Amino acid sequence: MSISTSPRIDLAYLRQRKAEGRKFAMLTAYDYPTAAAAQAGGVHSLLIGDSMGCVLLGHQSTRNVPLDLMIVLGEAVRRGAPNVYLVGDLPYESMAGGNETVLAAAKRFRDESGCDAVKFEARAEHEPLVAKLAAAGIETITHLGLLPQAVTSPEGYRAQARDENSITKLTADARLLVAAGAAMLLLEAVPNEASQAVVSAVDVPVIGCGAGPACDGHVCVTQDMLGIGGIRTPRFVPVLARLGETTRAAMRRWVEDIENESYPAPEHVYGMRK
Ligand code: KIV
Repeated sequence: MSISTSPRIDLAYLRQRKAEGRKFAMLTAYDYPTAAAAQAGGVHSLLIGDSMGCVLLGHQSTRNVPLDLMIVLGEAVRRGAPNVYLVGDLPYESMAGGNETVLAAAKRFRDESGCDAVKFEARAEHEPLVAKLAAAGIETITHLGLLPQAVTSPEGYRAQARDENSITKLTADARLLVAAGAAMLLLEAVPNEASQAVVSAVDVPVIGCGAGPACDGHVCVTQDMLGIGGIRTPRFVPVLARLGETTRAAMRRWVEDIENESYPAPEHVYGMRK
C-alpha cells in the first residue's frame, strides 16, 4: 500500500511510512541554505538540534545554546524547507526550569519558528511533562539512550544500553513515555538489539541516531555527514562528501590569488559607463 506524498510532511505521513515498512530520512539543519538543500534532496524531516552548540558555536557541550538563538535559526530553516517535518530541540536552559517553563518554551518554538514538533532528552521521570505537552497539543519526540545534555566532555559520548538489564529499562521507559503521549522516540547510540526491543514495544515511529537498522528513520548531524564536522566523527555517521577539504582548499586558493595578484582578474572588475 502507498499513500500520495502530501506537500507538507506531517506526523501521519511518517506513521504511514512506518506502517508500510518504508524508512524515513532526517538530518540536522541550523540555516536556510542547508535546509533548502535537504528539502531539494528529499529529506523528510529536519532537526534544529542543540548540537549547534558544538557544531556552530564551538562549545565542548550542547548546554550553552539559548532558546532565542534556536528560534531565530529555526525560522530560517523553516523558510528553506517549508515542506519537511520540522523538529525543534529544547535546549538545556529550557529543560532546567519546571514543567511550565518547558511548556512555554515548546509553545514559543512551535509558534515562532513554525516547527511541527519538539524533542527533548527524556527520562522516566519526564512522564508528567510528556503528558502535559500532549494535552497542550504539542507533538513531542522523546530522546533516549545517550543524552548529550548530560555530557560535558568529548570522552562522555559513549554508547548506551549494551546489556540485557539496560535494554529492559530502556524499553520500559520507552513504553511509559509513549503511553504518556510521546508522538515519536529518538534513540541515540544504542545497539540494534536495544532498538529492536523498543521498536517491538511501541507503536510510534522510532528514529535512530547511531541506533542500528531496526529503527524506522535515521538522523545524523549534517556537517558530520558532509565531512565538515569536528575532530571526532561518530562511527555511525556515513561521510558522504568531503566539504571540509574542499572548503580549506578554496580558502588557501583565495589567499594565494590575492597574494600573487591573480585576483581580481578583469572579469571581476566593474567598467566605467561609456
Ligand atoms: O542536537 C542534535 O543534533 C541531536 C541529534 C544528534 C539527535 O539531538
